[in-house]
Amino acid sequence: MAQAQPNIALIKYWGKRDAALNLPVVGSISITLDALWTRTRVAFEPGLEQDRVSLNGRSDAAEAKRVSACLDLLRQRAGVNWRAAVDSRNNFPTAAGLASSASGFAALIHAGDSALRLNLSDAEKSVLARRCSGSAARSVFGGYVEWAHGKLADGTDSVASPLLEADAWPLRVAVAITSTAAKEVGSSEGMRRTAQTSPFQSAWIETQEADLATARAAILARDFAALAAISEYSCLKMHALALAAQPGLLYWNGASVECMRRVRALRGQGVPVFFTVDAGPQVKAICEPQAVEQVKAALRDIPGVLDVVETGLGAGARNLTEAEYTA
Ligand code: DP6
Repeated sequence: MAQAQPNIALIKYWGKRDAALNLPVVGSISITLDALWTRTRVAFEPGLEQDRVSLNGRSDAAEAKRVSACLDLLRQRAGVNWRAAVDSRNNFPTAAGLASSASGFAALIHAGDSALRLNLSDAEKSVLARRCSGSAARSVFGGYVEWAHGKLADGTDSVASPLLEADAWPLRVAVAITSTAAKEVGSSEGMRRTAQTSPFQSAWIETQEADLATARAAILARDFAALAAISEYSCLKMHALALAAQPGLLYWNGASVECMRRVRALRGQGVPVFFTVDAGPQVKAICEPQAVEQVKAALRDIPGVLDVVETGLGAGARNLTEAEYTA
């Protein structure tokens, strides 16, 4: 049994150099959250004919296929072909741009590693989680995390590692939920379409190293203004890249745009806050702790914002006891 939390990229991952191995064209930097989680139980049962997968109490064929493919990586490592019963649940809406695949696959790899007594290192878990969903590589670790794009064809160097502990710079995050519908175009398909059709793909790849260096320095210096500027830049650049695909990928709704404008207005008034948005319509406002009540109130006020969820930064994937799992 394991728990992992979603992460939010400040310097975005978008694009793959190898779709089968989930190798990214660029490195990325994220923060791991604490209040949102996925809890997963994996039990390998030699008598089972096929994997039995329950996600939030339901079974879905497409999701089950992805889970089985991920379990195959663990079975391969362990040299067994036992099928497994998997039970997993999130305390937040799935597939709505809140990175449920990141926490989901990080928790699955962690729980599967324990169940098979593989004793994988965190770096090895990150590599396996990456193969299930790119951003899951980062949720193996807590706090501020960088995932290297790597150079090797087999992807063993495309692994995440921690940059700074969560406690060392405890920023807060207010997530404005503007829709609970599943996203129209998933990240994998969005990235494929972008790489094939967006004229900005090469500029995106060329400029990423500089953004990573700027963000890394801002995090190590706890320089909020610098992190705010580079994070909004990376977010808007990723969306500009995806908007220029054919057909264009428009992940925002009207409320998303209003949230971004409100965050910018607050920052203009001296409030330490910035936004980021992934492949969905939710807006994540990252702020210094003393500003979080004001930021939440401002976002709640925007028509179309259904809810605002607050979270801090948290730890990486970890094992749970039975009591913690059922709590
Ligand atoms: C916009 O990790 O969900 O959130 O590797 O295809 O599973 P796959 O994609 P996924 O993509 C996340 C994209 C993003 C940016 C980010 O998290 O860096």
